[in-house]
Amino acid sequence: MPATSPSPPSPPPPFLRDTPADLARTVALLRGGEIVALPTETVYGLAADALNESAVRRIFEAKGRPLLDPLIVHIAALADAARIATLPPALEKLAARFWPGPLTVVLQKKSNVPALVTAGLETVAVRCPAHPLTQKVLRLSGLFLAAPSANPFGYISPTRAAHVRDSLREKAPWVLDGGECRHGLESTILLLTDPARPRLLRPGPVSREELEDVLQTSVETAASPPPPAAAPALAPGMLARHYSPRTPIVLRDTGELPALRGVSGEAVLWLRRPPVPTPQAADFWLSETGDTAEIARHIFALLRRLDAGNFSLIHAELTDGLGLGTAINDRLRRASAR
Ligand code: TXA
Ligand code: MG
Repeated sequence: MPATSPSPPSPPPPFLRDTPADLARTVALLRGGEIVALPTETVYGLAADALNESAVRRIFEAKGRPLLDPLIVHIAALADAARIATLPPALEKLAARFWPGPLTVVLQKKSNVPALVTAGLETVAVRCPAHPLTQKVLRLSGLFLAAPSANPFGYISPTRAAHVRDSLREKAPWVLDGGECRHGLESTILLLTDPARPRLLRPGPVSREELEDVLQTSVETAASPPPPAAAPALAPGMLARHYSPRTPIVLRDTGELPALRGVSGEAVLWLRRPPVPTPQAADFWLSETGDTAEIARHIFALLRRLDAGNFSLIHAELTDGLGLGTAINDRLRRASAR
């Protein structure tokens, strides 16, 4: 064998689990500047010590993520937010209702947050996740954890530990398995730097109506204007093309679907069990009944499965766009953008 021949890659370690030993291991890895994929109630995140610049750099490298795209910083509780950001009074009301939970707020940052985390912005995105395992890791470690979704940049977000391993492999060997993510869609992002004009940067499990109810003011969607030259976009994750499978997706209204069935090599992705006597092998559905929470929970896993299924095209049904349907349609649109 030539001397230059690379040695075979060693198999990745088994998933870390909810045991005292594995949680201690997770904490030690993060304190030591390593990256660890952690479960949240939205999607799995690829976490590192947010205040350790070289640790944060590893996240960008593992994901192939451009440095222009800022990260969300995860905290154990509202009380921790003041150490990294200036808190507007409205945050207390929002946190009382939605934290821990799937709401991220963008605030004025403090100087201890490395520019790498915020892509040079003067703001920082802050989120208090509800998943009990990640809550334990945050509390045991005492760290602030920067974590984007644990997928290669631009690909579908992971909602199970196996998704992280399937797509990041040796780039993220440490994965804490917390089961299937309850919401299945990334957090709602709210820009709160001007409390008089809160703006929705990304629709998610917390709806605009719920935010307006708590804030007692209207919440506009941030128009995503093209960023000024050399400046990061308001929320670069709002890039049109995101969450994309390799297989092309065409968005469809419900009424179009029946006529599209039966074309060889093409899958039909229904929101609910198709109203036909015998579903075919290329019919897939996200929920038996069309329940939106269930659709959201299953959508990324099913897109991954279809992407592995050698289809040439996926016809995907859009929701009515109400409530959580806004966020589901948002992800479907981005997944279909070419
Ligand atoms: O549910 C979630 O939010 C998941 C879990 C892991 O917490 N995380 C997540 O992270 O979706 P990521 O990096 O995939 O998406 C975060 C989005 C990006 O689109 C980024 O541009 C935006 O948050 N963001 C981060 N910091 C920002 C800032 N200072 N201003 C505006 N947008 C920001
Ligand atoms: Mg992401």
